[in-house]
Amino acid sequence: MIRLTNVHKSYKDGEKEHSILNGVDLTIREKEWMTIMGPSGCGKSTLLNIAALLAEPTSGSVYVDGRQVDFRKEKELSALRRDKIGLIFQNPNLIGCLNPLENLLLAMDARHKGRSGRKAAMELLEKVGMADKANSNVKSLSGGEAQRVAIVRALVNHPQVLLCDEPTGALDRENSRLVLGLLLLTRRETGCGLVIVTHDREIGDMGERRIVLNGGEVLGVDQALQTV
Ligand SMILES: Nc1ncnc2c1ncn2[C@@H]1O[C@H](COP(=O)(O)OP(=O)(O)OP(=O)(O)O)[C@@H](O)[C@H]1O
Ligand SMILES: [Mg+2]
Repeated sequence: MIRLTNVHKSYKDGEKEHSILNGVDLTIREKEWMTIMGPSGCGKSTLLNIAALLAEPTSGSVYVDGRQVDFRKEKELSALRRDKIGLIFQNPNLIGCLNPLENLLLAMDARHKGRSGRKAAMELLEKVGMADKANSNVKSLSGGEAQRVAIVRALVNHPQVLLCDEPTGALDRENSRLVLGLLLLTRRETGCGLVIVTHDREIGDMGERRIVLNGGEVLGVDQALQTV
């Protein structure tokens, strides 16, 4: 569904060029359940942002459903993101002047909004135990509460693939389980693909496909074990 071929990403720091991704080839297949692990700073968020079409590779190509993505066409990019991809960031990124319910409604596209949009949004908030704070000030939420809202916000348009960047990083054990359970249930119910970047070994081991990013390259788990 999303294919990265020979993707390089580097950042300029003054005169120096820092290479983060060095020729990554990665295919996220339809309905796949994949986990990505790797040391801090190895480029996991960078990789996820490229797969989510939020960042352009320095070189290399990205394909969505077999079609090469043209990163210069902003309209096409946002349509692809809206229609196909649900993204959960490492930080919740909620809009502070809107309450949780409004954050979900704003993210909802016209096809899903309709008259039942509000009800669907409330049901999602309920699933993560946030219904009673649907109308609260977002700024008053704890980090974990905000993350739970951000997670269901990514589900409002029934994405074909959910890309999650450490979705449970800010949560305690109980909420971490709740959120992971919701993501797996969503995958079972909707058949969407699920990609989770995590530092949590237990979650990392749960993926049907597990990959490790190290030294700017994607390794299968077996390969990664050989390097330690
Ligand atoms: N916009 C940017 N400009 C310059 N350097 C950046 C930028 N974004 C990321 N980097 C650098 O790229 C490297 C990889 O960052 P990235 O956030 O992808 O790592 P990560 O694997 O997600 O780490 P973590 O596990 O800590 O979240 C880091 O060294 C970071 O400083
Ligand atoms: Mg990261």
